Amino acid sequence: MSAEAHASVVVLAVKPQRLGGVLEELKGALAEEQLVLSIVAGARTESIAEGLLHPSVVRAMPNTPAQIGEGMTAWTAAAQVGEGRREVVRAMLGALGREVYVETEHMIDMATALSATGPTYIFMMMEALVDAGVHMGFSRHVAQELVTQTMLGSVLFARESHKHPAELRNMVTSPGGTSAEAIYQMEKGSLRTVLSKAVYAAYQRAVALGKK
Ligand SMILES: NC(=O)c1ccc[n+]([C@@H]2O[C@H](COP(=O)([O-])OP(=O)(O)OC[C@H]3O[C@@H](n4cnc5c(N)ncnc54)[C@H](OP(=O)(O)O)[C@@H]3O)[C@@H](O)[C@H]2O)c1
Repeated sequence: MSAEAHASVVVLAVKPQRLGGVLEELKGALAEEQLVLSIVAGARTESIAEGLLHPSVVRAMPNTPAQIGEGMTAWTAAAQVGEGRREVVRAMLGALGREVYVETEHMIDMATALSATGPTYIFMMMEALVDAGVHMGFSRHVAQELVTQTMLGSVLFARESHKHPAELRNMVTSPGGTSAEAIYQMEKGSLRTVLSKAVYAAYQRAVALGKK
């Protein structure tokens, strides 16, 4: 491992409204070989670098499942961060689940809407399905067990099969069957459009918060 890879990492993980004060405290205090890793939502790499008078900044956008090692983190790095230090970042973020390097801050805003906000979409669908089970007459406990394992199993199956979701959905849709009936109602209720609009609205919000 290169000397660069051994350099210490300073993690910025404060609420966005606290960041200004923290940057002020750390301004000019970091050694050249130190790397700053920020997970602060909305804070641009450039403004952190300017606030600290320190160019080696990595910006990462994790999500809540990182708490159990199943996170999805998108990250990007300032040009000054060399390959050795990028490897350190990959290893750190990889310990929280999966990590994907993206080339621009713009893509961090996109990941904020898709993966960082992602648990919101999933939890809401989970809640709606559990409620549907309760509506039919299952106890909440049984409905939750059926829904949780179905979601988990479907996701793992999709990942292992490497098939496009449209192909998987086709596999489980028999002519005149229950899935076809359910799909008709989901299309009629514009489920795809609602999800697409929700993600796009979250993206626009992420962009707006980054400009504040
Ligand atoms: N949670 C997520 O899934 C997620 C995902 C993406 C991004 N983020 C971002 O991660 C950041 C942290 O979120 P969080 O939910 O973990 O917040 P949090 O639970 O409130 O944690 C903030 C931490 O910052 C510390 N802190 C506050 N002021 C400080 C200061 N002046 N100097 C040093 N440390 C200070 C707090 O310590 P005390 O408790 O001792 O005050 C606390 O440990 C936010 O910017 C958020 O946008 C979170």
